[in-house]
Amino acid sequence: MFSRVKTCSLVGLDGNIIDIETDISRGLPQLNIVGLPDAAIKEAKERVRAAIKNSGYEFPLSRITINLAPANIKKDGSHMDLGLSIGILRSNSVINNETVDDYLILGELSLDGTINSVDGVLPMTICARESRFQKIIVPYENRDEAAVIGDMEVYPVNSLMKVVDFLNGDKDIEPYIIRELYSESEEDTLDFSDMKGQDQLKRALEIAAAGSHNVLMVGPPGSGKTMASKRLPSILPKLTFEEAIEVTKIYSVAGMLKDNKLVSKRPFRSPHHTASGTAIIGGGRIPKPGEVSLAHNGVLFLDELPEFQKSTLEVLRQPMEDGVVHISRVNASLTYPSRFLFVASMNPCPCGYYGDPTHECNCTPNSISKYLGKVSNPMLDRIDIHIEVKPVKYEELSDNKKAESSKEISIRVNRAREMQLERFKDLNIYSNSQIPDKLLNSFCKLSKPCKELLELSFKKHKFSGRTYNKIIKVARTIADLDDSVDIEERHLLEAIRYRVLDTNYWGKS
Ligand SMILES: Nc1ncnc2c1ncn2[C@@H]1O[C@H](COP(=O)(O)OP(=O)(O)OP(=O)(O)O)[C@@H](O)[C@H]1O
Ligand SMILES: [Mg+2]
Repeated sequence: MFSRVKTCSLVGLDGNIIDIETDISRGLPQLNIVGLPDAAIKEAKERVRAAIKNSGYEFPLSRITINLAPANIKKDGSHMDLGLSIGILRSNSVINNETVDDYLILGELSLDGTINSVDGVLPMTICARESRFQKIIVPYENRDEAAVIGDMEVYPVNSLMKVVDFLNGDKDIEPYIIRELYSESEEDTLDFSDMKGQDQLKRALEIAAAGSHNVLMVGPPGSGKTMASKRLPSILPKLTFEEAIEVTKIYSVAGMLKDNKLVSKRPFRSPHHTASGTAIIGGGRIPKPGEVSLAHNGVLFLDELPEFQKSTLEVLRQPMEDGVVHISRVNASLTYPSRFLFVASMNPCPCGYYGDPTHECNCTPNSISKYLGKVSNPMLDRIDIHIEVKPVKYEELSDNKKAESSKEISIRVNRAREMQLERFKDLNIYSNSQIPDKLLNSFCKLSKPCKELLELSFKKHKFSGRTYNKIIKVARTIADLDDSVDIEERHLLEAIRYRVLDTNYWGKS
């Protein structure tokens, strides 16, 4: 007998509805799965066979053919187990209820028929809703993740037997309603109040957090670069609901969702400099999002930038620019979002003291230029704020006074971010750094004196077109922090100041 059951498959973060077509006919007992299944689905045969038998049902001793349609999409993951077994039980007349057609079915089976949690439930639930499903069956442990998409009936299940009884109408399952949408987040323990002096550095990070502008910090050892970066999460603006959904989708697919609820805080990723290109960009045999995507809507922090492989830094250029990363596979090309705030820190030379007024640098010009050369000009061009960190002064360090707290800074950051959200309403833009170039003129009007100032600096410092746009966006954020409707000359001047550091070190202009 023939039957059809609906499930879902992911390509990147995009879901596709998959029909599991099952046909049981006379012939030698065998189970064949066709329609581009990957190794995990081929293994499912054994799990499905054992789970059906161990749940007390008869496994048909006939020729079973399962087709996963459409056949041109590569399917992977163990989440189809449950759908496959329901297909067999339906074809074998154990389940006799037409309402099965209304459900999208997800779940991995254990050999004893219990249902295990799976990755990617949130994007698959979104796919189900977009395909006009109203009911979804999910593993019990994934119930929160599915229920954050409010207008779906979510049926959490933990054993094959329960699903069969439910679909036959013999037992009822209450649709699950989530109470707490967001996962509990620990408070930040690192606070800017521990950091003495370094007002310029803190100001630069405040602007970066407010408008999501990339930052490069250059300075001698022990000047507080790493210290400041570790405190950045404490001043990042609140996630909007839409941003939280985007982040949670990625963590769901990566299997990194902590308690299966919405991620409540902006991610902060700081991969080590030995991380491989695949770890940073994503991919692998079973493709997973890389650090650039795990940092989506949050921060990607590369400490000791020149220690990273040059090739790793170069592959960052594309996701930094486009906000998405493309990964090629044999049967498909995946796309993951990668819109992050890039923060990097480095010393100005191998010994660390080049340009430091308090120490002598003993590097040769050759070794300095080789060291700085690891960070290419196209990379520098993508960084909006370049800041030279000076050694912290003794007077500041020995002062017992507490510095401004992260809470106070984040009030200003959040206010500036709210102004941006209001400005970009309905445009799918969340911060000034994301203003598309074609909309720059309408969102960042410059007065005549501002234009003249910009022209002068552009010619003097030989800025690139990209730098020109970035300076205007940073100036917009500085004006927002200043509660100013217009970009004024002082805002623009500060923004320009953040782009002349490369002249000092990289010898441009
Ligand atoms: N402004 C500051 N206020 C208080 N403590 C500071 C400050 N700057 C540095 N320190 C102290 O110095 C330590 C080292 O600073 P940090 O690791 O941030 O330096 P760095 O600039 O990253 O140096 P490197 O270039 O060697 O990585 C900090 O952990 C902190 O204890
Ligand atoms: Mg450091």
